Amino acid sequence: MRSLAIISRKGGAGKSTLALNLAVGAHLRGRRVLLADIDPQRSSTEALRNRRKEGPIVAPSTARKLRICLQDAELQRLEDVFIDTSAGAEEDRLEAIRLADACLLILRPAYLDIIAAAPTVELLRRLQKPTLIMINQAPRRLACSERVELIRAMDAIRLFKIPIASEIIRTRRCYQLSPQLGLSVEELGHDETVQEMARAYKAVSNFCEKVDRDRRLREAQKRVFTPPIIPLAHATYYPPWID
Ligand SMILES: Nc1ncnc2c1ncn2[C@@H]1O[C@H](COP(=O)(O)OP(=O)(O)OP(=O)(O)O)[C@@H](O)[C@H]1O
Ligand SMILES: [Mg+2]
Repeated sequence: MRSLAIISRKGGAGKSTLALNLAVGAHLRGRRVLLADIDPQRSSTEALRNRRKEGPIVAPSTARKLRICLQDAELQRLEDVFIDTSAGAEEDRLEAIRLADACLLILRPAYLDIIAAAPTVELLRRLQKPTLIMINQAPRRLACSERVELIRAMDAIRLFKIPIASEIIRTRRCYQLSPQLGLSVEELGHDETVQEMARAYKAVSNFCEKVDRDRRLREAQKRVFTPPIIPLAHATYYPPWID
């Protein structure tokens, strides 16, 4: 099972919107998915309740119950867990970061958002948590080039030295409609947006696969190099007459 905490310290960055879109995206690709919503605002829970067809399971939960929620998901043989977190509660975010296999840091490409992310980046580095940055609510491209403010913001974000998803999510009305219907923008069918979300999903999915591969490799290496623990019964036995 793969778990991904969707985080940002700044409110309104798009955590719930992307949690919904990624969870539905995984469901559409045939995966068994849970969206664990630990934000008391319950945005992604509400969004998935608006869905009128089959979709990911949603679990309104809390940071305290997250460990049990993840264990439960493992028992149910779910494949992907997306954790929607709140902007405010520092402790809750920390718990989600600790428990998830990896993090998706949602960032709007704007000055205040970038500086607000610095402590989170520092924390992620300290915890050595695999992280991918996803840019959301970026201005649309001009005819044949990016806007100068986006180029500058991206330069600043690169200084964090954390991988950035190759797909940038633009500000589009579809993303506002998506939670209202409980649908992914891929299901809403606006060509440009469908492609954008499909590429963003692929970037996140590739990242999660890599994290999973690395984890398995580390575990295998540990198994190879850990000296075997000799059970007491097999330990050298000295008969009682040998002092
Ligand atoms: N790419 C986008 N284009 C247009 N609007 C967007 C986009 N992403 C998010 N929004 C809008 O921005 C607002 C905030 O989004 P959302 O609730 O997902 O953010 P959040 O990070 O979960 O917020 P909070 O910190 O309050 O939980 C919503 O109105 C949402 O519809
Ligand atoms: Mg939210």
